[in-house]
Amino acid sequence: MAGISGRHFLTLQDYTAEEITAILDLAAALKLKQQQKIPHQLLAGKTLGMIFEKPSTRTRVSFEVGMWQLGGYALFLSSQELQIGRGEPIKDTAAVLSRYVDGIMIRTFAHSNVEELARYATVPVINGLTDLYHPCQALADLLTIKEKKGMLQGLKVAYLGDGNNVAHSLMLGCSKLGLHITVAAPQGFWPREEVRSKTEQNALLSGGSLTVTSDPLAAVKGADVLYTDVWASMGQEQEKAERKKIFAPYQLNREKLSLAEPEAIVMHCLPAYRGEEISADVLEGIQSVVLDQAENRMHAQKALLAMLMG
Ligand code: CP
Ligand code: NVA
Repeated sequence: MAGISGRHFLTLQDYTAEEITAILDLAAALKLKQQQKIPHQLLAGKTLGMIFEKPSTRTRVSFEVGMWQLGGYALFLSSQELQIGRGEPIKDTAAVLSRYVDGIMIRTFAHSNVEELARYATVPVINGLTDLYHPCQALADLLTIKEKKGMLQGLKVAYLGDGNNVAHSLMLGCSKLGLHITVAAPQGFWPREEVRSKTEQNALLSGGSLTVTSDPLAAVKGADVLYTDVWASMGQEQEKAERKKIFAPYQLNREKLSLAEPEAIVMHCLPAYRGEEISADVLEGIQSVVLDQAENRMHAQKALLAMLMG
């Protein structure tokens, strides 16, 4: 397999199953090294610029600490304090930042912003969440499922709620690696057609499958992994009250958990809203792996950074 050094990471769709597996394998190895306090300064002297146009806890901290553990440095760049916030084109920002840093991570609204940044940057660009995708989250999700279940191929994943950026990346990641994913969402909130069709094509190659339904109970039946995310994503705050009513039947709670496999794990990318998309008892229950999932953001991204920027 050719290396992935120098490439952008905008969506998992641009990566083969072998490449994703290689990132996950390196992530597991680096996690062990970190736990055993074995130095692994794979990016000594390298710098990552991190542009944020939306808030973040996990993405910012996991990238920043991850770069430090790799012997490099990360700069937090709020879009409000960059000239980009005053209208400097993305194109110029990409070209200029490329003269200073060895990689750029960006969290923004339109996915086309990340694509434009990547077009004009001469260093790797990493998508730290757009309205369409959240591929770093999906890497951490797959790493977590593999750790907890010892395998990926053939597992049944049920995602309940909004067919959003997190759902889209989970669909692509699962279908690349041969998992069966069911997305249960109200009509009108299903994953985008373009992502469904990519997922179906991936599943044909990997032996996985995609089911999209409006029946949350059918979705969770016999699932190995239960996953949910917020009902109103960043930028949709004004729809929150309306969405709360529409999504109510999709809450991940004890009733739904009881229909899944007895050893099923509960996942959420966080931040979570207890009593909305997930009940407090399930979020904090023994089947929940949400904190390992959050931790794994850092390990997965360290592997990604080392492979792209090394
Ligand atoms: N899951 C996730 O991306 O969290 P943050 O918004 O805190 O970065
Ligand atoms: N779907 C959520 C994920 C947050 C990490 C959002 O875009 O706000």
